[in-house]
Amino acid sequence: MTFVPTDGKRKRVFIRTYGCQMNVYDSDRMADVLRPLGYALSDSPEQADLVVLNTCHIREKASEKVYSELGRLRDVKAERRREGSDLTIAVAGCVAQAEGEEIAKRQPAVDIVVGPQAYHRLPQLLAEAERRGAIRRAGKRLPGAGVLDTEFPPESKFDHLPAPGGVRAGSAFLSIQEGCDKFCTFCVVPYTRGAEYSRPAESILQEARALVAAGAVELTLLGQNVNAYHGEAPSGSAGGSTWSLGRLVRALAEIDGLARIRYTTSHPRDMDDDLIAAHGEVVQLMPYLHLPVQSGSDRILEAMNRGHGRDLFRRLVDRLRERRPDLALSSDFIVGFPGESDADFDATMQLIDDVGFAAAFSFKYSRRPGTPGAALPDQIPESVKTARLAALQALLARQQRDFNAAKVGATVPVLFAEPGRKPGQVLGKSPWLQSVYVEGPASLIGSIASVRLTEAHAVSLAGEIVPPLEAAA
Ligand code: SAH
Ligand code: SF4
Ligand code: F3S
Repeated sequence: MTFVPTDGKRKRVFIRTYGCQMNVYDSDRMADVLRPLGYALSDSPEQADLVVLNTCHIREKASEKVYSELGRLRDVKAERRREGSDLTIAVAGCVAQAEGEEIAKRQPAVDIVVGPQAYHRLPQLLAEAERRGAIRRAGKRLPGAGVLDTEFPPESKFDHLPAPGGVRAGSAFLSIQEGCDKFCTFCVVPYTRGAEYSRPAESILQEARALVAAGAVELTLLGQNVNAYHGEAPSGSAGGSTWSLGRLVRALAEIDGLARIRYTTSHPRDMDDDLIAAHGEVVQLMPYLHLPVQSGSDRILEAMNRGHGRDLFRRLVDRLRERRPDLALSSDFIVGFPGESDADFDATMQLIDDVGFAAAFSFKYSRRPGTPGAALPDQIPESVKTARLAALQALLARQQRDFNAAKVGATVPVLFAEPGRKPGQVLGKSPWLQSVYVEGPASLIGSIASVRLTEAHAVSLAGEIVPPLEAAA
């Protein structure tokens, strides 16, 4: 038995993804990188020759999950070795970048540790892991702990990735920007993803065209600070040497067959006039914006190093709604940042009340090693964080319910993505990213159909296809 099945044989890789959409994109791209080596995707670690954990470091819980999963994989690997075969274990993503060698030390069963900007090198790393496997099987001592690649490489991975392998259900992610230079005092991203980088516009347009040709009707542009995008303009294009996100969105809107454009995650400081205008002018740009604000207290925003206050956020929302009155907003909130008083928390609740959100993500502050926030005095007790989070989530849930209820009776385009929970149902997304389910055939998946919304629930809506399918046939 060989360490990794010999070339030419079918090999299987299981990829588990934690964290944000950028990791989802990266996991797909890792599958693309591994495909020419003969790796097909597997549904479970038990059936795989290679397991990749694409990890998230954003909060302590996310990070710790990885180690418990690695413990389980160690047992699978030990079992394999008893049977005379093996399992290669790779840790990718943000924990890999943040903790590097520590991972292989804490869990020696790990073979490969590769950062989020270096996974285009997986073929070389696997070859090296295989070489180490041969040394181990020969009964010799292995030098060092695993195969590590966690330096930020000088080259951009985007210049070394194969074309995307396919599109699921009409919708695709497209990373256009990576990394962050903003250094919010709670956040690990600038350390795990590195400095802000924008892909050249031409390479994005090429990937977008390929995705649309492969069946995408919706593209979600991704970046840790996606609206800080300032990529090299295509040669010969008018209007300066770099493109902003607004300009890129307008160019993407010219691709035939692309019905929906979204982008995430944006930062309030980078919402420029052109992007705000695009929300009113580009019909393909969906009326939904995820714009994290974190807190409604100026004092806390300052301590977080967000670089803006509550009023800037409020003004932005007003300007966006002027351009696009039906714009739905979502946001991220952190409760219990060091020093957050009752009055600070009330200011956040007030902001939520004033703005009205269609959806939101909210978290208890998690103290992250190496970030300035971790060293601040006046850390907030867990019980206070728990109570504040519950109050905040109750308010946000109420707003989401109200937002959904207000759409009942409307007829809206829905992009169907997957089978529903009950047989005969299909589930999709409205322009405002609401989950909508209807009675209908699975053949709807991947396409957009008109749906009359009939009933609102807490986090989804029921609807019916209009005109009725028989009439349309
Ligand atoms: N670039 C985005 C956010 C990326 S991280 C932005 O600037 O808004 C996604 C979300 O995780 C953040 O918006 C924040 O709400 C949350 N988050 C980040 N670090 C955190 C921490 N240490 N504790 C709790 N939540 C955190
Ligand atoms: Fe993290 Fe702030 Fe950068 Fe967002 S802007 S990724 S929260 S440092
Ligand atoms: Fe997590 Fe890294 Fe995304 S820390 S949220 S996977 S950028």
